[in-house]
Amino acid sequence: MPEKKSDIMDKIADANKSVVTGIDEKDIEHWITISILGRKYQVPAGLTIMQAMEFAGYRFIRSCGCRAGFCGACATVYRLEGDYRLRTAMACQTRVEDGMYLTQIPFTPAEKAKYDITKLTPGIEALLHNYPEILRCLGCNACTKACPQDIDVMEYIAAGKRGDVEKMAEISFDCIQCGLCAIRCPAELAQYNYAQLARRLYGRYGTPKPEHLKNRVKEIGQDKFKDDFDKLLSGNEDELRKMYTSRDIEKA
Ligand code: SF4
Ligand code: SF4
Ligand code: FES
Repeated sequence: MPEKKSDIMDKIADANKSVVTGIDEKDIEHWITISILGRKYQVPAGLTIMQAMEFAGYRFIRSCGCRAGFCGACATVYRLEGDYRLRTAMACQTRVEDGMYLTQIPFTPAEKAKYDITKLTPGIEALLHNYPEILRCLGCNACTKACPQDIDVMEYIAAGKRGDVEKMAEISFDCIQCGLCAIRCPAELAQYNYAQLARRLYGRYGTPKPEHLKNRVKEIGQDKFKDDFDKLLSGNEDELRKMYTSRDIEKA
């Protein structure tokens, strides 16, 4: 018996489920209206901002990385209808709301110093030499309000001004370098780059070197892994893929 037209249509609809959002229109109960770069779209409620933008037809070639809240690539600025506040979020971690006016911040062109960490001493000199502008902080707290990781950014900047790299490293530990603090700073600081320097200084000078790391570096110096490295470097893509999928995975 020939297949019914409705069955065929169902099959086609199923095959056309959005590749990225996994949303089937017949499963959608609520629609909301959002505005992306000034244009309005109807999207299903419950999606993340990133999924909603993809549902609306945007293809991310920037402003998207891990999709899991770690890489900091999806910095987003938005406003809600009837609210004057400019809010910030990570697009992969925040759900869309009705009346959101959205835009992506693909990159924050912030100053980043070049330094040789082995030639620095942890403390105020290292911070002021590389980032003297840190002293311009006005203590307004706009950076803390902007941080999607809920980091007390103003507090780590205050620690930096005292040269307390340990405190700075500790407070900024969850920073994902999204740049949202920097775009809101009236003193035009690049907070996250200063915090990165503090974490590097603390990591190098303030924490004990683990024994297993020392041993591994020694083994590398003794060419223990040379044959394996050579094999990796000479492999073609297919061979590398095969090695990757058949590798031993450490149990959690
Ligand atoms: S401290 Fe700044 S760069 Fe780091 S996560 Fe918060 S807003 Fe993003
Ligand atoms: S936004 Fe800038 S000026 Fe204001 S507290 Fe943060 S670092 Fe200081
Ligand atoms: S895509 Fe990596 S944090 Fe959102």
